[in-house]
Amino acid sequence: MAGAGIVIAIDGVVGSGKSTTARLVAEALGYRHLDTGAMYRTVALAAGRQGVEPEDERALAELLPTLQIDLLPSDQGGCVVLNGEDVSEEIRRPETARRVGSFADKTMVRRALVSHQQTLGAHGGVVAEGRDMGSVVFPNAELKVRMVADLDVRTQRRLDELVATGIRTHFDEVRADIAKRDREDAQRDYGADGVAADYVELDTTSMDLTQQVAAVVDWARQRGA
Ligand code: DC
Repeated sequence: MAGAGIVIAIDGVVGSGKSTTARLVAEALGYRHLDTGAMYRTVALAAGRQGVEPEDERALAELLPTLQIDLLPSDQGGCVVLNGEDVSEEIRRPETARRVGSFADKTMVRRALVSHQQTLGAHGGVVAEGRDMGSVVFPNAELKVRMVADLDVRTQRRLDELVATGIRTHFDEVRADIAKRDREDAQRDYGADGVAADYVELDTTSMDLTQQVAAVVDWARQRGA
């Protein structure tokens, strides 16, 4: 891994600011941002379009090998391409957010995506973002960060993001969605034996984005980035 940079694994609760932080840390270090949530969202989108339900293992097994998911850099901070089509905006819609959990639960889906993620991060120089990054996908990551923040603060941040992309919704709806996903996430088996013990916790409740990014970049530099 020498020369190519370290692996930084960023995990965190919904709306803790992990996506934006991961993207900006990657930019600051000249690393690649591996947004693995976007990959799970893309699978849910593709399945939805083809009428494949998460319980239908046969249909899912046929669908998965047909999906080529690429994460490309863009001016907007990264675009997600499904079989040549830019789906960056579509995967962020609340309909997809509501469906993604049941696909992310499927071992078959996780296996396919974990292996793709490991290939993309094999040479280091990545900021890998997602719940199982430090425990399953990159257990040897040089830096593992877990981001947390209060529910109301997370709700407001997610609401601001959605409104900025033109999606109309309101505080209570977003708060209920996040609380539901917190419960699902807490129950989900990510395929790890336990939570990786070597995480550094970053509580972003009263931090702004600049402070969050600076904290992670500092830790990364101390670990050889
Ligand atoms: O981080 P996000 O909101 O874009 O994630 C979308 C969904 O995918 C969410 O339900 C958590 C799930 N996910 C996962 O199971 N494993 C990952 N490595 C990343 C996301």
